[in-house]
Amino acid sequence: MRYTGLIERYQSKLPVTDATRPISLGEGNTPLIQLQNIATMLGKKHKIYIKYEGLNPTGSFKDRGMTMAVTKAVESGSKAIICASTGNTSASAAAYAARAGIKAFVVIPEGKIALGKLAQAMIHGAVIIQIKGNFDDGMRLVKEVAEHAPVSIVNSINPFRLQGQKTAAFEIIEELGNAPDYHYLPVGNAGNISAHWMGYKEYHSDGKSNHTPKMVGYQAAGSAPFVIGSMVDNPETIATAIRIGHPQSWDLAQKVIKESNGWFDARTDAQILTTQKLLTEKEGIFCEPASSVSLSGAIADIKTGKIPQKSTIVCTLTGHGLKDPDTAISQCTDAIININPTIDEVRDAILNNM
Ligand code: F0G
Repeated sequence: MRYTGLIERYQSKLPVTDATRPISLGEGNTPLIQLQNIATMLGKKHKIYIKYEGLNPTGSFKDRGMTMAVTKAVESGSKAIICASTGNTSASAAAYAARAGIKAFVVIPEGKIALGKLAQAMIHGAVIIQIKGNFDDGMRLVKEVAEHAPVSIVNSINPFRLQGQKTAAFEIIEELGNAPDYHYLPVGNAGNISAHWMGYKEYHSDGKSNHTPKMVGYQAAGSAPFVIGSMVDNPETIATAIRIGHPQSWDLAQKVIKESNGWFDARTDAQILTTQKLLTEKEGIFCEPASSVSLSGAIADIKTGKIPQKSTIVCTLTGHGLKDPDTAISQCTDAIININPTIDEVRDAILNNM
């Protein structure tokens, strides 16, 4: 059967009716890839799976929430949407607004969004409002302006966003035949970890799994309010997607960790980049820096013995590596060999690098 997006796939689990006209780009249904080489390096004591959300239509998990948010905005007669964003939400909002034939306004922090995401927002025709401030400033402004202008907010404070995003948990349970023991996610606003927990709980009460996972949220060390236990005013990290000091889903996420017996922790920028490179070189999977913090955390917890042997672990990779080419290229300074176009020089380039 042709796959036509997650609203049609999970209609009975979502706040839609037969009259709802889904605005879809075929989001969801992303691969769950079992790690091989990295698992071997770690002693093969666990089953580690990657939920590769970078393979959504605009290259991040945001599309799961955006299909719902834009569908409901259009259904309620809205002609424009707005969001604050560290990049991926703006790319997704821009694409789904284009599909719906409505206007997207995106508020982004100047100089702090990855090139691919900016390109997406621009090419889809969003109105880009760049501020001399960070995501948290943008979010505050968006909430305020939505009270004075005819625009629907499509940040994850829009409850339809989390409804769409919870479907990732459904897919994982369907594929594994049960919930994993642990689910690791990168955390910024903490909407996605909250959405996953909602999905796991719903499928558990539907009898589709016999347990729920421990939810584990990882942040970047310079931007880790959940780890510190209070808001951070000047968050900093190379993982610009999660450069957030005042998370919008603070209470929800605290509840998730408590109910699921999980935890929050953080990784440094250097550790984040090391894991990003490890994934590309050892498994052929390219994710953006913010995404690799989930696996980076899982590897750290496996090494300290925090995770019992034989556990099933899912790590979400939230966004595609192509989103942030600058950071990728800056890590690969020796990768290019420059030669003259002769057979001798090509042969030497191969033989010297076998
Ligand atoms: N990973 C990526 C690649 C993201 O873009 C984000 C959030 C997160 C993780 C964190 O998810 O906020 O639900 O905890 N990006 C938002 C944006 C803030 O504007 O694109 P969260």
